[in-house]
Amino acid sequence: MLAAEQIQTNWEEFCNNIKLWVVGDRQKELLKFYKKYEDRIMMMPASHKKEYHNAFPGGYVDHVNRVVKCALNINDVWVEMGVDTTTYTLEELVFSAINHDLGKMGSEEQESYIPQTDKWRREKLGEDYMFNKAVEFASVPDRGLFMLQSHGIQYSFNEMVAIQTHDGLYDEANKKYLFSYMPEQKPRTSLPFILHQADLMAARIEFEREWLPKLNNPVPPTEKNFTLQKEIKKSTKDKALSQLKNENLKNIFDKL
Ligand SMILES: [Fe+2]
Repeated sequence: MLAAEQIQTNWEEFCNNIKLWVVGDRQKELLKFYKKYEDRIMMMPASHKKEYHNAFPGGYVDHVNRVVKCALNINDVWVEMGVDTTTYTLEELVFSAINHDLGKMGSEEQESYIPQTDKWRREKLGEDYMFNKAVEFASVPDRGLFMLQSHGIQYSFNEMVAIQTHDGLYDEANKKYLFSYMPEQKPRTSLPFILHQADLMAARIEFEREWLPKLNNPVPPTEKNFTLQKEIKKSTKDKALSQLKNENLKNIFDKL
């Protein structure tokens, strides 16, 4: 679980990445979009099952910021090894990284991941979240791209393909972009591969951080293993709350 001040710092880093890498009107539109959904996105987990990565409050932004950093570092390796840098821009790389998992937020009205209401699943399986059945099905990339276009945020063809295929061949739907042996059907930029490697690296590191200590030192069965209901020491919580600037975030965190 992240401390409240870490959630706030992560959000500032998230917005700074937009200011640093996205230019012109698109920067303004993107900042406006994220301001509108700030409270939801700031507190979102990166997934709803604890077996997946970063399934805790603030886990989504923590993951996205890591993907941005991984993407820039992995890009350096590709550049050093001779990738054709004329086929994509760094803005496209960072824009795709920032928005690659946006579809996880759900719809305008409904969040995808809501607190688990099943007491048994919460207590026995340690599930803090469940999927919100009120949200109509769409794949994460499709929903993310829909949210961008429905808020007037344009994206390039490269960004569309990179966001669409960020799961690489872990998602069968990406075979149409990534599995062809025909040269003319292969992506004409390495951007999708760089983003996929960055996402893979970030998720793997998040898995190692969360699970290797648990697997190496199993929690005694009597100890609760879930995060939302875990008691936060009052002094730690008060200190964290006092550092939060955002009133809505304060309220949300205060209820944890
Ligand atoms: Fe991701």
